[in-house]
Amino acid sequence: MCGIVGVAGNICATTILLDGLEKLEYRGYDSSGIYVTNGENGFLCKRQGKIANLREAVGKKQHGTTGIGHTRWATHGAPSQENAHPQVSDSQRFYLVHNGVITNAEDLKERYLKHITFTSQTDTEVIVQLIAYFVEQKQLTTLRSLQAVISLLEGSYAIAMMDRRIPEQIFIAKNKSPLLIGLGDDANYLCSDALAMLPQTQIFMEIKDGETGIISSNEVKLFDEENKAINRSTYQVKIDANDLSKGAYDSYMLKEIDEQPAVLRRIIQTYTNINGDINMSSELIERLIQSDRLYIVAAGTSYHAGLIGKSLFEQLTDIPVEVVLASEFGYHLPKLSAHPFFLFLSQSGETADSRQVLVKIKKQNYPSLTITNVADSTLSREADYTLLLHAGPEIAVASTKAYTAQIAVESLLAKFLGTAKKIEAARQFDVRQELSLAATGMQSMIDEKDYISKLAKKYFYNQRTAFFIGRGNGYYLSLEAALKLKEVSYLHAEGFAAGELKHGTIALIEQDTPVVAFVTEAKTADHTRSNVQEVLSRGAKVLIISQENLVHPNDQLTFPVISELLNPLVAIIPTQLFAYFTAKARGNNVDQPRNLAKSVTVE
Ligand code: F6R
Repeated sequence: MCGIVGVAGNICATTILLDGLEKLEYRGYDSSGIYVTNGENGFLCKRQGKIANLREAVGKKQHGTTGIGHTRWATHGAPSQENAHPQVSDSQRFYLVHNGVITNAEDLKERYLKHITFTSQTDTEVIVQLIAYFVEQKQLTTLRSLQAVISLLEGSYAIAMMDRRIPEQIFIAKNKSPLLIGLGDDANYLCSDALAMLPQTQIFMEIKDGETGIISSNEVKLFDEENKAINRSTYQVKIDANDLSKGAYDSYMLKEIDEQPAVLRRIIQTYTNINGDINMSSELIERLIQSDRLYIVAAGTSYHAGLIGKSLFEQLTDIPVEVVLASEFGYHLPKLSAHPFFLFLSQSGETADSRQVLVKIKKQNYPSLTITNVADSTLSREADYTLLLHAGPEIAVASTKAYTAQIAVESLLAKFLGTAKKIEAARQFDVRQELSLAATGMQSMIDEKDYISKLAKKYFYNQRTAFFIGRGNGYYLSLEAALKLKEVSYLHAEGFAAGELKHGTIALIEQDTPVVAFVTEAKTADHTRSNVQEVLSRGAKVLIISQENLVHPNDQLTFPVISELLNPLVAIIPTQLFAYFTAKARGNNVDQPRNLAKSVTVE
């Protein structure tokens, strides 16, 4: 989603801001801008499109030592130079960048700002004009004005603002949207994602909802809602710089697909020892044992990983599981069981839809766990427990390695919990062995890349639509395979329960419509193959991905036998590659597909 960067220091702010924005480009990227000052002169520059456009417009000149920057993913107002941030007050005194959505912006405009001619369609401009109004008309100090304004705002925001008259300071505020302070020797930094400022510092400080602050080169001040000063401890973010580069790859997506066997092995090493013991918090397991229902809360690909988790938890732990879409669940809470436990699955740990559920269930004192790839992310900090994916940064917008890592960590947790509950199925499930087999199976699929690219060409390149079908986990795989193809190749794709297709959607099958079938489950293999016959006889071009023990002679892709609970880890790989090759062939930007953003920090 949108990204914020800031620097207050005795260094070249322009370069740091532009480099930081480039690191955040994968999160949202329809326009960008910076405001930099050297104490006397301010420099504002905004551009539509990629950061490269902004960099070119800024030129080589260093414009100052303190500044703020923003990369935008449009919510209010189309992508354009006018709507890009920083937004500026009428008086040209205040410059403000914002992530989030202000839901009462129109009311505030009507109430306080009728005299102002707005130059953009953004809710952000309302914030900056209001701050100017409180300073210029009501004589509040800049900080007091910011505090007064945020008390009026409804919705989510991470704000960084500069006042031309106090050029060495950046004013900040946060509610629901991520914002971090980075601490350095010659400067202090601001960012919505630590990745942006990692080249400058590894030491960060959290800002909590409702807090405001002031950052300068040698000081960071934070205030609570009553304007009392806060002492906040710092933490270190450890990320290997190599993880952030594409290396020899042409895209992060392909690199991340290829990394999956290694990620799986890293997860095995992190969470198990040679005796097969699982290294997770016993207190977490105690809390889980006391629960009578597990609610897995997630969005998008993480939701699909949660669906695979359902059978793992139900079969290995005997605890009923509901997998729920975060964006629906928080606003339509069903009748909960007597002792629910909430598991949040989120690659980024920042998804606003998931977070609003966490905030609500915390108010009820329900226990929670976040499984995430990002240590110290909001969902990780705010849940009672965290399990990390150890997948390394996932930069491509379309999630691949986080999906498989989430399933792997779910399987380890399910095994640990089921064993603690003395469930026979858990005792018999050799999770270490199965995950190792899955890593090998994944590699065998990745090694078939050339063949898979030919299949992609034959089945998808010239199509407008595609279907994926399967039963049980094969159905859940279909949902994820279709999402991946849609996201990066822009083909219309749908995942269906194989048996459900004939209840309506089969009407869409025409001559040569591609249908990919997952035959990954023994008890339904014959039924799925019958469904394949139904589409074949209506002209579909069928591609079957099957497990070796269920194979038929004409199946196009087959993978070695592993537990059906974990074979989605392998079966998903060719479909990730289908998406990648089709997108490449169509000339799409596979890492930054149109309209999408990594880490969706608005509801
Ligand atoms: C799809 C994708 C999204 C995310 C979703 C949730 O490839 O990346 O569907 O899975 O936005 O994001 P996280 O997992 O960060 O909560």
